[in-house]
Amino acid sequence: MEILSKNATLLPVANTDFLPLKGTDYVEFYVGNAKQAANFYKTAFGFQSLAYSGPETGMKDKVSYVLRQNKLTFVLTTALRQDNDIAAHVSKHGDGVKFLALMVDDASDAWEQTTSRGGKSYMKPQKLTDDNGECIMSGIHTYGETVHLFIERKNYKGIFMPGFRKWESNYNPPAAGLLYVDHCVGNVGWNQMNPWVKFYEEVMGFKNILSFDDNDISTEYSALMSKVMSNGNGFVKFPINEPAAGKKKSQVEEYLDFYNGEGVQHVAIATNNIIETVTDLQSRGVDFLKIPASYYADVLDRVGKIDEDLAPLSELGILIDKDEEGYLLQIFSKPLQDRPTLFFEIIQRKGAKSFGKGNFKALFEALEREQELRGNL
Ligand code: FE2
Repeated sequence: MEILSKNATLLPVANTDFLPLKGTDYVEFYVGNAKQAANFYKTAFGFQSLAYSGPETGMKDKVSYVLRQNKLTFVLTTALRQDNDIAAHVSKHGDGVKFLALMVDDASDAWEQTTSRGGKSYMKPQKLTDDNGECIMSGIHTYGETVHLFIERKNYKGIFMPGFRKWESNYNPPAAGLLYVDHCVGNVGWNQMNPWVKFYEEVMGFKNILSFDDNDISTEYSALMSKVMSNGNGFVKFPINEPAAGKKKSQVEEYLDFYNGEGVQHVAIATNNIIETVTDLQSRGVDFLKIPASYYADVLDRVGKIDEDLAPLSELGILIDKDEEGYLLQIFSKPLQDRPTLFFEIIQRKGAKSFGKGNFKALFEALEREQELRGNL
């Protein structure tokens, strides 16, 4: 039997990625009122109207609005009836992320590969067609009630997917420089981080690229542990947090309480100019965590020379960290809904591939001040 093909040196069998991902396809939120949420994401974050599905397109029990900004696609979905999975999800969790949809070349193979390795099926491969071609989607469950969908759209030319029509709006606020999903973080329960790390390794072929224990991530009051999982090409990164014991309730516990279980804690969104983007977002009404002036007194001693002036960074509350490969600038929004659950991170990478470990203490102290105000510390 011939073992080595002509391409063997280029594609060694042992390193073959059994789940090749082309990136994040979209993030879908289940919300209480999709029409109003869509307006919020357009107004506050500069998303553009893209597509719509609802009763007018044959969808009798739900409505979805699709928004886009550069390579970021958000879908906001709400239930039209009480007896409905979406309504139950919103009642239990509040507004939150239901689907982290991943772009693949072969959604049937992605489903076969993951379910044969122990992934629990959410949806067998399904072909959706219209005049613009076909999409194939499949899906598996991950932590909590969150689902990874695999989306194959190489034979589809339409605006989004079969079942959607173009959404034309007279209201088109300018974009805010948000580019793509950098990473999505999941909060899981006590002692659940390692089982979920194992899930991403075994079922999805991801690697654990970074780990933080409670010594890295603790303040006087609370702690957490985190492991960052990345797919083979690094396009998809999922850090997983679990609470760790501290004197008071940790931010992850507060999340788990209010979300009623495990779920997506934050979506980190990349920009090429964080000062411009955050200045713009703040003027549109996005609230960010405040960082004390003392943070900026010695930050440059820690991170060295940076291209940006410190004054606007400190005014906006943008955090700075570095690793061996460069530095990064990041900021965290306050929760995006009334429950203290999902929030966004805005991140600009200048070489650094890490996640801001040097900022954890300042960040968590800022989060604790907010928790304290809510009476949940
Ligand atoms: Fe993050």
